[in-house]
Amino acid sequence: MNFVGASDLDIFPLVLGGNTFGWTSGEEESHEVLSAFVAEGGTMIDTADGYSHWVPGHTGGESELILGSWLAGRDDRDDLVIATKAGSHPEHRGLSARAVKAAAEASLARLGIDTIDLYYAHRDDPAVPLEETVRAFGDLVQSGKVRYIGLSNFSPERVREWLRLSAELGVPRPVALQPHYNLVARSPYEDGVAPLARSEGLGVLPHSALASGFLSGKYRSAADAVGAERAARVSRFFSPAGLAVLDELHRIGSRLGEEPASVALAWLRSRGEVTAPIASARTVVQLTSLLAGARLELNREDVRALNEASAKLGRTQSAGAQSTDTQAEDAPPEDAP
Ligand SMILES: NC(=O)c1ccc[n+]([C@@H]2O[C@H](COP(=O)([O-])OP(=O)(O)OC[C@H]3O[C@@H](n4cnc5c(N)ncnc54)[C@H](OP(=O)(O)O)[C@@H]3O)[C@@H](O)[C@H]2O)c1
Repeated sequence: MNFVGASDLDIFPLVLGGNTFGWTSGEEESHEVLSAFVAEGGTMIDTADGYSHWVPGHTGGESELILGSWLAGRDDRDDLVIATKAGSHPEHRGLSARAVKAAAEASLARLGIDTIDLYYAHRDDPAVPLEETVRAFGDLVQSGKVRYIGLSNFSPERVREWLRLSAELGVPRPVALQPHYNLVARSPYEDGVAPLARSEGLGVLPHSALASGFLSGKYRSAADAVGAERAARVSRFFSPAGLAVLDELHRIGSRLGEEPASVALAWLRSRGEVTAPIASARTVVQLTSLLAGARLELNREDVRALNEASAKLGRTQSAGAQSTDTQAEDAPPEDAP
């Protein structure tokens, strides 16, 4: 049993990220990845209404449409946990009540489903009174369009405020957080919402669990990443300390006969309050090491070695990770709203 916070969503310990669908993977390849994920026991899929509006010629909603066309060909919708997010679609930006309601309707239509299992506020919107947003998400649960609420990229203060308002207004409270968290971006989460997640019993589903592919070990220098779709995102990790984390992943992986990506995901799973990391795979071949990471258990010594190597990254690099996190972390940096 692996429940998301206080919900009854019992999930496989790896969530498949959907920002690749229609961006770095075409429809057919995305469907293959989705089918392979579910065939191996995967249950939860993460997307957002805005994916992948940053691609020239795209309008947003491409990922949800591809997920929807895959769901339409299956009869196991009720066994799956579909998560999407409001706030980043160019037509429904932000978290006003009007935008959230319209965004949810549009997501349901693209996905071809009646209910979103976990609906996130993609990132905070300080321009809207939080009470308005909390009510809007609560209304969606009360109307049956959403089962549970999640918050992504929110500061601890704003999560606390959301929880307070939910209680005050008598609307369902969030059950999950989706922070940016991985071996090369630790402190924004660990010094941020982690204590609150523990004390409030919130599920934690870290996004970018492979640091946009850096932790797969396929790049050894920023030059290796030139031309990759995620080059802008991985380039910040090629410090001596970042490369030392990779060395540790390779060392542990070769002893265990596992890929660095699998070890990186297993490390996240070893963190007490993490429910399941979210990672994406462009191909079915890449998915193999993600699935292995959902099953691999690291011993205490390996966890300690990774803790020590990643602690050397210090706060400067991690702080950089946080500053883009609150913008459009799953879009190129220049696309920040
Ligand atoms: N809430 C938010 O603000 C937010 C932000 C970011 C992401 N997310 C969610 O988190 C999910 C995952 O994050 P992410 O896509 O940014 O990055 P990630 O999971 O950290 O990295 C995934 C990428 O790494 C590469 N990769 C994966 N397995 C590999 C392997 N075995 N060997 C070599 N390369 C491999 C692939 O990229 P290549 O194309 O380079 O092969 C893949 O798309 C997203 O899909 C999305 O659902 C949410």
